[in-house]
Amino acid sequence: MSAPLIHTQVDRRDGDDVWFHFTLSQLPDSPWKLHFCLPRQIDASSVEGGTLERQSGSYKVLVPQDGGSELRFCCRSTPIKRNSDLPQGFFLSLGDTGSGPQLLPVTLASQALGLPPLPATAPELPEVEAANGIVPQPAHLRLPEGNFRLAERAHVSGPLPLGPLLAHFNELTGLALSQDHDAEIHLVEAPLAPEAYQLSISPREVVIQAAGEAGWRHGLVSLAQWALQHGESLPCLELRDEPRFGFRGIFLDCSRHFHSIATIKRLLKQMSLFKFNRFHWHLTDDEGWRLEIKAFPQLTEVAAWRGHGLAVAPQLSGGPDPYGGYYTQSEVRELVAYATGLGITIIPEIDIPGHCHAAIKALPALLREEADSSRYLSVQFFDDNVLNPALPGTYEFLDKVMEEVCALFPGEQIHMGGDEVPHGVWTDSPACRQLMQQEGYQDCRELQGHVLRHCQQYLAARGKKMLGWEEILHGDKVSRDATVFAWTSFQAGLDAASQGYPVVMAPAQQLYLDQAYNHDYQEPGLYWAGPVSLEQVYACDPAPIDFHANDNILGVLSPLWSEQIISRDRLDYMLFPRLLATAEVAWSAPAHKSWEHFVARLPGQLQILSQLQVRYRVPQR
Ligand code: ACM
Repeated sequence: MSAPLIHTQVDRRDGDDVWFHFTLSQLPDSPWKLHFCLPRQIDASSVEGGTLERQSGSYKVLVPQDGGSELRFCCRSTPIKRNSDLPQGFFLSLGDTGSGPQLLPVTLASQALGLPPLPATAPELPEVEAANGIVPQPAHLRLPEGNFRLAERAHVSGPLPLGPLLAHFNELTGLALSQDHDAEIHLVEAPLAPEAYQLSISPREVVIQAAGEAGWRHGLVSLAQWALQHGESLPCLELRDEPRFGFRGIFLDCSRHFHSIATIKRLLKQMSLFKFNRFHWHLTDDEGWRLEIKAFPQLTEVAAWRGHGLAVAPQLSGGPDPYGGYYTQSEVRELVAYATGLGITIIPEIDIPGHCHAAIKALPALLREEADSSRYLSVQFFDDNVLNPALPGTYEFLDKVMEEVCALFPGEQIHMGGDEVPHGVWTDSPACRQLMQQEGYQDCRELQGHVLRHCQQYLAARGKKMLGWEEILHGDKVSRDATVFAWTSFQAGLDAASQGYPVVMAPAQQLYLDQAYNHDYQEPGLYWAGPVSLEQVYACDPAPIDFHANDNILGVLSPLWSEQIISRDRLDYMLFPRLLATAEVAWSAPAHKSWEHFVARLPGQLQILSQLQVRYRVPQR
C-alpha cells in the first residue's frame, strides 16, 4: 500500500484567525486518526470534517467523521506567517486491525501558507570596504608597519605551564605552537585588570601581557583571529583591550530539541573565539528533561523521550518515533571541564515552577495534586506543566535535583527559571489554598515567590547563588542576591537594576537568536519579539550612558531557544553571524563600536567561520 498523502493549506484568514484545510489521500481502509504537531491552539469548536480528540503543547490528534478525507479547523488570534510555523510530523494511527494498533507515516505532499508574495527585501548591510580586524572590537588598536612570520610550530614562553592555553589556540587555528624558553611568542605577567591584555605583534616577536590566564587567553584568541585571516604573514599590531562586561553569555535550549555533547563542545569552542565566558545550559522544559538525576531515574527514563504512546507525546517536529536524549552525569562533568579549559563557566538551568510538563509526567505521584482542579494554559499550550508550591513532593523533588546539580556544576551560579507561569494556575488547588491561608498570602503569585525563595535559600546554604528569569520577582519573595535575567523587554532589565538586583540583559527584541532575521516567509524562526536582524543585535546597548543603576548590569545573554532547531545546520544558521554582534555588544565599549566598521570586519570573520565549517547565514546584500 502506498503511504497516505496530505496537502495542507491556509485557505482563510480573518485578522489573526487562521483557517487550515487538510486534504488526505491514499488512505487505508481501516479507521484512522491523524496525529501532527502545530505550535498553536486549535479551536475545538471550529473543526469541520472531524473532531479534535487531543491537544497538548504542539501535539494534535484529529479524528475524521465517517472516514472523510477533508479536515478544516481554525487557530484563533495567533499569527501564522512563516513556513516554519506550519504543521509537521504527520502520521496516522489505525484502529485495532487485529494485530494491535498500527502507525502509518503520512507524506506531506504540499503546504501553502496562503499569503501574497512580499516585496523584495532591502540589503541588510551598508556598502563598505572590507577590512580584516578583530571581533569583538578591541579598546585600542594600532597597525604599525611590518609583518611577523608565524611558523606553524612556533614556540611560546610563559610563566606557567601553557599546555591547555596552547591546545585551545592550536585547536582553533590548526597550528602546533608549543612551550619553550627559546620562543618568538611571549606571555608576560603585567599588573592589569583580570581580563585585560595587551597584544603586540612586531616583526621580531609577539608579546601578550596580562595579569593571568584569562587575559593571556584573550590575547591568544585575538592572535588566533589574526592568524586565521592572514595565514603565516601577520601584519604588525598593537592592541590594548579589556571587556565592558564580566558576563558574556550564550544560551542553548537542549530540551525542545536535543543537542549532542559534540554539538555543545563545538559551540563552546566557537564561543571562545569571540571571548564569551558563560554558557547558559537550558536542561529542562515541557518537551524533555535532559539531565541525569540519580535520585529520580524516571526523569531520564521517562521524561527525556517523547513519541507516540509515551508519557510525553510527540512535540514540535513531531513524528511517532521516540525522540530525545539526555546527558549522563559523567558527560556533564566532562563538558564542565572542557568549558573551563576554554575560560567558560557553565550555568545550568532547571526551569521551575512552570515548564515542568515532562517532569510531572515522569513523577506524577510526587508532583501532582489529584484534587487540584485549576485550569490554565501555558504560552506553549500545556495545561499540566506547573509544579505545585504546596506539595511536600515538590520540595522533595527540588531538593534532590538541586543537590545533584550543585555537586555537578562547580560554578557559583545556578539558574532556576521562573518564567511564564500561566495565569489561573493554583487557584483551585486545596493545598495551595491552605498554604496561602497559613502564610497570609493574598495573591497566587506569592506562591511562585514562595517556591523560588525556598530554592534561593537551599542554594545559598551550599554557597551558590540563584539566577532566574525576570518573573522570579513575582510575589516579591526572593532577596536581592538573585540575578535577574530580563527577557520580555529592555525596560524590565532597567527596572530590576533600579530595584537593586544584579541584571543580565537578554531582551528578546534585540538578543533572542531564535527570532527570524527578517520578515520573509521563508526565513525560519519565531517572530513574536522580532524579527531580529544582525543590525538590531549589534545596536543593543545593555547599559545606556544616562542610566543611574548601570553598576547592577552584569552583562548580556543571547538565547537560542530550540523549538525550530532541528539540525546542526539550523543551529549554525540562527547563531551566525548574529553571535558575533552579541560578542561585540558584550565586550566593546560604545565608544569603540560602529556598525559600519563591524560590517567592514565581517567578511574576514565569515571567512574564519567557513574555515571552521560553520554554516552561517549569508547576509543579504
Ligand atoms: C523565556 O523566553 N521564556 C525566558
